[in-house]
Amino acid sequence: MTTHYKGLIDRYRSRLPVKNDTRVITLHEGNTPLIPLENIPSILRKDVKILVKFEGLNPTGSFKDRGMTMAVTQAVSEGSKAIICASTGNTSAAAAAYASRAGIRCFVLIPDGKIAQGKLAQAMIKGSVVIQILGNFDDGMRLVKEVGDSAPVTIVNSINPYRIHGQKTIAFEIIDALGRAPDYHCLPVGNAGNITAHWLGYCEYAGIAAYADSFQTEQGPYNKDKVTTKTPIMCGYQASGSAPFLRGHPIDNPETVATAIRIGNPQSWDQAWTASRDSKGWFDEFTDAEILATQKLLAEKEGIFCEPASAISVAGAMKDIRSGKIPEGSTVVCTLTGHGLKDPDTAIKQSSSPVIRVEANLAQVQKAILDNLK
Ligand code: F0G
Repeated sequence: MTTHYKGLIDRYRSRLPVKNDTRVITLHEGNTPLIPLENIPSILRKDVKILVKFEGLNPTGSFKDRGMTMAVTQAVSEGSKAIICASTGNTSAAAAAYASRAGIRCFVLIPDGKIAQGKLAQAMIKGSVVIQILGNFDDGMRLVKEVGDSAPVTIVNSINPYRIHGQKTIAFEIIDALGRAPDYHCLPVGNAGNITAHWLGYCEYAGIAAYADSFQTEQGPYNKDKVTTKTPIMCGYQASGSAPFLRGHPIDNPETVATAIRIGNPQSWDQAWTASRDSKGWFDEFTDAEILATQKLLAEKEGIFCEPASAISVAGAMKDIRSGKIPEGSTVVCTLTGHGLKDPDTAIKQSSSPVIRVEANLAQVQKAILDNLK
């Protein structure tokens, strides 16, 4: 028996809408670590177990690879020669990678000037056609849907159900690692595909068919055997300037430093409300300053470097643990959706460790060390 990990389709095939003879387009995504936080819980002085699912360690540095292996596998099996997506950066990075792997064309629509450098670099180096639109993600999404009706391209945004099926595997991995579902699951919400996918995965493992059935694809059926009896309470967090779930309606002109979730008109609106309502969860919002402070805290206290949008899950968990909304004794999982290296500019701007410039001699280096030993 080989133990070589070959990606999430190989691992969870019976629970995914993929035929046995389908050519799988994979970069061996998934299987990301579930890391217990060791230092932040003691700052909170609460007896709570917090674990982070570090999706930044996927092949293109975000959770999007989970959905993209499914979406591109399906597109290629249908004979598609090109894919297209609107993106705040991570979807485009993943789409570019899986299109390259499959040998098909990739078109990405990104918002003008509002995408982190690392993400832009990923789409460019992989040979995608990058279309920078003078508008935001929501404009890009509208245009992708319009062009998808008239051009021979497959849309690989999360309105594509295969994306949701790929992304649901994060819940499977968490339950497989913990031996049960966590009590609370905290995550950022932008276009809302990911909260939809998490909830689908948890429901499927719990054998709750009603929700799972609404994501049936033409490839169905897949294994819905009961594995666990429990689902977590879903806590979705948004940036204050881009918080349609808090306002109760889509918003124009969303703004936030967390450009990944700079979205005003989420496509999975109804599904996200279902996840929140049925899990007895909630939405909350955080300012840019709070988001950045948490990104820095995770890096300084735990050595984990995630992108700003991802840090909001830990900001939310910390607030709700402090207030007692998440009670002591709970097990909390936070999804860290993307790697900090995606957006080095934002990290450098808020770093409190200035780079010390010295002459290339021992005395100066020694002085720099002694001055800074705490
Ligand atoms: N975190 C990161 C790092 C993201 O890139 C995204 C979405 C989210 C959270 C929110 O997930 O949209 O499923 O609610 N990024 C998309 C993109 C929009 O184009 O890369 P969601």
